[in-house]
Order: sequence, then structure tokens, then C-alpha cells
Amino acid sequence: MPNKSFYITTPIYYPSAKLHIGHAYCTTIADAMARFKRMAGYDVFFLTGSDEHGQKIQQAAEKEGVTPIEYVDKIVAGFQALWKRLHISNDDFLRTSEPRHHRVVQEFFRRAKAKGDVYKGEYTGLYCTPCESYWTELQLDENGCCPDCHRPVEKVSEEAYFFKLSNYADRLLKHIEENPDFIRPTSRRNEMISFIKQGLDDLCISRTSFDWGIPVPDDEKHVIYVWFDALTNYVTAAGFFDDPEKFKKFWPADVHLVGKEIVRFHSIIWPAILMSLDLPLPKQIYGHGWLIVDGDKMSKSKGNVVDPNLLIDEFGADAIRYFLLREIALGQDGNFSRDALIGRINADLANDLGNLLHRTLNMIGKFQDGVIEAATTKSATDEALIADAAELVAAYEAGMENMEISPVMKKLWAFIGRANKYIDETAPWALAKDPAKKPELSTVMYNLAESLRVISLLISPFMPETAPKIWAQLGMKGDIWAVRLDDVKTWGGVSAGQHIGQAEPIFPRIEVEKEEKGASGAKQEKQKAAPKQEKKAETADGVVTIDEFKKIELRVAEVTAAERVPKTDKLMKLTLTLGDETREVVSGIADVYTAEELVGKHVVLVANLKPAKLRGIMSHGMVLAASDGEKLRLIETELPAGSVVR
Ligand code: MSP
Repeated sequence: MPNKSFYITTPIYYPSAKLHIGHAYCTTIADAMARFKRMAGYDVFFLTGSDEHGQKIQQAAEKEGVTPIEYVDKIVAGFQALWKRLHISNDDFLRTSEPRHHRVVQEFFRRAKAKGDVYKGEYTGLYCTPCESYWTELQLDENGCCPDCHRPVEKVSEEAYFFKLSNYADRLLKHIEENPDFIRPTSRRNEMISFIKQGLDDLCISRTSFDWGIPVPDDEKHVIYVWFDALTNYVTAAGFFDDPEKFKKFWPADVHLVGKEIVRFHSIIWPAILMSLDLPLPKQIYGHGWLIVDGDKMSKSKGNVVDPNLLIDEFGADAIRYFLLREIALGQDGNFSRDALIGRINADLANDLGNLLHRTLNMIGKFQDGVIEAATTKSATDEALIADAAELVAAYEAGMENMEISPVMKKLWAFIGRANKYIDETAPWALAKDPAKKPELSTVMYNLAESLRVISLLISPFMPETAPKIWAQLGMKGDIWAVRLDDVKTWGGVSAGQHIGQAEPIFPRIEVEKEEKGASGAKQEKQKAAPKQEKKAETADGVVTIDEFKKIELRVAEVTAAERVPKTDKLMKLTLTLGDETREVVSGIADVYTAEELVGKHVVLVANLKPAKLRGIMSHGMVLAASDGEKLRLIETELPAGSVVR
């Protein structure tokens, strides 16, 4: 049976501005999908590139005193370097200035013209030069300016070629209505349907006012203008002229992943051009949302443009990729903030994932001389873990097939939390003390190593730098990129007798001065709130009397809900029950525990501590934890909520 194929594209980026984190966002999503599909056994073709023609580039090059190609060469080299640093696994990089592309665009022009869909006319329109877009009166914003960039538009009149977009309105509408997944998400689909229903104007596809572009065949004073040139890149790279076999395999594309503002061009103009050429339409246009920065749209004038290269320098590619993919629901706008990024790195990567790896390898080293031994026993706890892993793999596959990246990652991290909890449940340190429990200990260690094998493979589309590191630290043989999703559908891929590799931390915690200040600020508030009480409880030599200690009311409380306090590194809001009373307490444990892990725990609460406000939330008490300087764990008990601790 021939392999299933998968062709995914990003937009080709304009080399007019430096790429920012918003561009990296789109490319990272496409990369995660491409990597997932390869792992799922598809033959993948993943394309990105650069959209190099147009008046703006020509003007910018003139200003610098260089030719347009010299101008773009430099910028495009920067794109390619950035994608490399971000571990983007594109199979091709298409530059619209390449001869292979010129040939295809000119051929498309000829064929559409022969079909009667291209004609010469006079264009008078409202043109936005920065956006290289014509707009109708109706589309302008409330100030009569460009609806995209809100700058003034000018009335332009010139001889131009037109594409008869209006010919295709009915067929397009029918196609969109009959194929519910053609445009995703549904909000964009609905937008496009109403846009088409308003009527489509023919599309101007040539310009005479500049010459940095692909000449119109047999009429060289015209160059082919923006979208007819740009969109065609998707078929050029698929081998339309150069490689008919490849074209047969990959066309139509499975997904054109684009930002929401260019869904219109991809789901209306592009299908109409393809219809004119009798070529099949792409299967899906997916419009993702915009990345905004600290609540604001990125722009040079606001000075809030986030440079992905600087972020990679500081945090590494995988942390950035993890954040972009996990934090933002595909299709919706999402916020980028440094605090949120650091919060995720510390909680999800350094703590949840890092600790699981570290604890597992540490115990295999300490208890079993670094050898993963066979699992020969099976308790209910072991069975539950194995069942959860199988459920995860199934949900992961279904979710990723449907591009539900962030929900899939949430499930994956819930499993990481689950595996951490398995350590607490099985208490291997206790098993290690009892020689009779050696088989159980081996099973627990095996199951943890196997969990990490599954986890490392499943994170590989999101974190391609970290996944092979975990793989190697587990002592797995061979290249992780040759491993397929099917290989984690059955439990037992780790070989008994396998030696673990060199254990190394994968994500060091990021210490944040501001967050530290925040935490100590909160502490100061607490101290200010109760300084006298504390002083009174202390005798001159630093010891407290039993009567003084008795003033502290310690009670067992059950965590009924937990929620991270947004924009903080460590704070978790806990809802506790004392049996007859419910409390809200803010605790600095979000870097150690996930919300899911906390619910159900029976902890010890200092119940008569003076309430204090932490990050705007009143905290009524404090839960006790123990720390050896490195690790911090809550003090837990199995006694019922409300019990008095003495
Ligand atoms: N060259 C055209 C696309 C032609 S595709 C045949 C273009 N280029 S662009 O460089 O301006 O934008 C490329 C992509 O980056 C678009 O999909 C756009 O939505 C995306 N983004 C630009 N800023 C963005 C954010 N702030 N957030 C997310 N994506 C953003 O349009």
C-alpha cells in the first residue's frame, strides 16, 4: 500500500520586515504538525518560503542602494537561519524570485488567459501601498483608511490585467458549503461565506508601476502582481513542472496554515485560480489567530516587537516552541508575555517534566546500578498507569490528526503529572529498603522508564531538541526520529537490562528577579500584618514555650480545587475544606505541583494565621511543606479533613 501523504504549508513571508515571534508562531505550528505526521507514518512535505516581489521591496532596495535581489538575499538568509535555530523541519524553502517559480506563475497566467479568465482593463481603485492591497469603498475602516493597517489609501488608475474572480463565486460558495472542513475554524468559514455572498469583484493581477516581479508573458511592461504570484508558490514547490510524480503525490495540499487576515486570499482567490486551471483545491485552509504581546498587537511603533532570536538565545528553542504551542488555542488570538513564558518553563518543563526524568534516572542509578530491569509484577497501581498511557496515546493521535495541539499537550502533561504521582504512590525508596520487594521495585522503575519513552516520543513534534535528549538519557538505542507512533501503542519498548545514559538536567529553573521581588513583597506584607504577634511568640533565646506553640492552630484540610494564579511563577490558589468550613489559601507551590495533582490531597493548614493578600487574593491560612533545600513537598496525611494536628 502506498504511504499516506501529507502536505502542509506556512505562508511565504515578506522580507520587508524582520520576522517576529508571530511569524515563528505560525511556522512552529506547521512544524509540529509535520513532525507528528511523519511520526504517524505519513510521507510529509512541509513547505515554507519567502514572498519577495513587489513595490515595497523595490523601494526598500532603492533606498539602500542595492538591487532588489541583493536586498532580499540578506533578509531571506536571516529567515532560514531563524528556522534552523527553531528546529523547523521544512522539506523545501520556496523563494518567489527563483526561476522554478517564475515558470509556473507565467504558465498559470497563460492558461487562465487561454481559458478566458484573464483580460486587460483599466483599474481604478483604492490602494494601500504598505499592504499592497486594493480595497472597495465598503471595506475601508471608519476613517476611510485601509482596514488592515489603518493607513490612508489612494485612488489609483492604471492599465492592468484582471482575473475573473466573479466567475467563480457560485462554485466557491458551493464548495465551501459542501466541505465543512475546507475553512477552519468555523468562525472564519462563516466570515468567508458572507464575504462571497456580498459579491466578488474581479481581481487585478498585474502592475506597471514597478518591475520587481514576474513579467506577464508577452506583455513585459506588466509584472504579475502579488497574490497571483504568491499563492502559486504552493504548486511550484509541490513539483508542478519539475516533478510530476511528486505533484501527483502531494497535490492537493492537505493544509494551508495561514494567519486569520489572509484566510480570504487563500480560501477565495486561490481556489478560484485553481478552478480556472482545472486543478484540485487544497483540502483545508486553517486560519490561526494572532499573537499579541502583553495584550497589545505587535508593531514597530509601539516598540513591542518580540525578536524570536533573542528569545532563543535566552531560553532555548524548545521552551519557546512549547510555550507557543501550549499556551494558545489554535484559531484564537493569544497573548505572549515573558512572565507567562517563564511560568510555563518553570512549572511544566523544569518541574513536571524535568523532575520526572531526574527522579526516575536518579532512582534507577541509585537502586539498580543504572540498569532498567524487567517488570515481573503488576499491581493495580501499575495497571492504572499503563492504561492511562494507552489512553493518552489514543487521545494524542486523534487530537493531533485534528490539529488540536494545545489540548493534546495538556493531556500529555496530565500524564506527566500522573507519572510523578505514580512515584509518590509506589514509594520506590521504601521498596528499595526491603530486599523482598525487589521485583516490585524493578516493575516501578521499568514502568517509569517506559512512561518516559512514551513521553519523549510524544513530545518530539513540539520539542525536537529535548525529545532526543530524554531518549538518550533513558539509554534507548537508535534514532528517535525513526520511531513511529505505532511503537508506543504497546507497552514494553524499553528493553530489560538496558543501561540508562548520562543523566543531565533538561530545563533548569529560571530565577526571576521580578518574581522573587513579588514573592518577597508578599512576605513583607505578611510580616507587616502580624509583626507583633510573631514577636510575642518568641522568647529572647529564640525558643518557644509549649503554650506559645499551642497558640498555632494546625488542622488537616483537603484540597478540593486548585488553580494557578495567572502571571505568577509559583502561586497556586487552593480551595480547602476543613470538614465544616471552606477556605481559600494562596500557596507558593505551583512550580512543584500541578493543579490536578493537588486536588484530593490532605494537607496541614495553619488555620489561625492572620489573612494576607497575595497578588490581590486573600489567603486565609498557610499550608505546610517540607524542603531539603532542593525539593519541596507538602506535608500530607491520610487523616480526615478537620482533624487537629498537635
Ligand atoms: N506574503 C504574505 C503571505 C503570502 S502566502 C501565499 C504575507 N506575509 S507576511 O509576512 O506579512 O505574513 C505572513 C504570516 O505571518 C501571515 O499568516 C500572518 O498572519 C502571520 N503573522 C504576522 N503577524 C502575526 C502575529 N502577530 N501573530 C501571528 N501571526 C502573525 O502575508
